Amino acid sequence: MKPSIYVAKKVPGEVAEYLEAHCEVRYWNGNEAITKEQLIEEIGDAEGVLLSGTPVTSEVIAAAPRLRVISNNAVGYNNLRLEPIIARGILATHTPHVLDETVADLAFALILAAGRRVTELHAWVREGRWKKGQEEELYGLDIHHATLGIIGMGRIGEAIARRARFGFEMNVQYYNRNRKPDVEEKLGVTYVGLDELLATSDYVLLMLPLTPETRGMIGAREFGLMKQTAVFVNVARGPIVDESALYDALAQRTIYAAGLDVYAQEPIDPAHPLLTLPNVVTLPHIGSATSATRMEMASLAARNLVHALQGKSDIALIPELRNV
Ligand code: 8YV
Repeated sequence: MKPSIYVAKKVPGEVAEYLEAHCEVRYWNGNEAITKEQLIEEIGDAEGVLLSGTPVTSEVIAAAPRLRVISNNAVGYNNLRLEPIIARGILATHTPHVLDETVADLAFALILAAGRRVTELHAWVREGRWKKGQEEELYGLDIHHATLGIIGMGRIGEAIARRARFGFEMNVQYYNRNRKPDVEEKLGVTYVGLDELLATSDYVLLMLPLTPETRGMIGAREFGLMKQTAVFVNVARGPIVDESALYDALAQRTIYAAGLDVYAQEPIDPAHPLLTLPNVVTLPHIGSATSATRMEMASLAARNLVHALQGKSDIALIPELRNV
């Protein structure tokens, strides 16, 4: 008897074929991402669910009495409430590794775009604001040989450090819960305290998971420690940052610029004050958004789901469940 599963997000055709070969599949067919309330309606007798970003709370778990596996089609899993999942002995998987290099590329795009004012001056050209004889008005900041401070040295942080060291000859320092001597050795990066990183980096890059400990971690105090010429980049999660403190720091030029791929609310409200500032580059959470990487993520999420339902162990369990 094939297990029944619920696929709560669009997946590529060949991934759907793979799932249908091993499971009885029901799909979310809405045009917009499924909400928690709709998932509670839909999940029913599913033994497995594949989703990304949708909150999986105790209500969702309670609405799915036969649920054995949650496959998160993302590396970040702050949308999963772990207590009810662990209490029910449900397996939860995610998609690490396959997106590291793609997200690192996007992080560097934001470092370059914010440092060299790419989007701002792109608009100048189109608006006819580029004038002969302009000089300082067009200046940006160097990236090569500058100091990059990475907050969160996981796999993606490491991929970014590699680009910085070997592609832009940057001085790279990092702050992390645990020191990474192997990375220090391999890439020539330096471990520093958070405040020292904030005060001495030209580019401050956030690469942490969203947890109760990291929520709101970067606020007015932290922006106040940064250089006036500092560029802040967030490709991790929006709620780690106090967005109104970020707005103040950018509007008052306490820091130079920011590059953002994630926000407290996604999509961000088009009327949000941050979107009125010239020195903020804003992208729609596209860190992993290349066709190749999204295909790899969906394939891994599908394989995690099927193999977990089959009781196989070659699955990417979320870290909190690896030693349960
Ligand atoms: C996802 C991401 O595409 O993997 C993650 O943690 O943030 C992105 O790759 C996004 O979470 C989809 O909701």
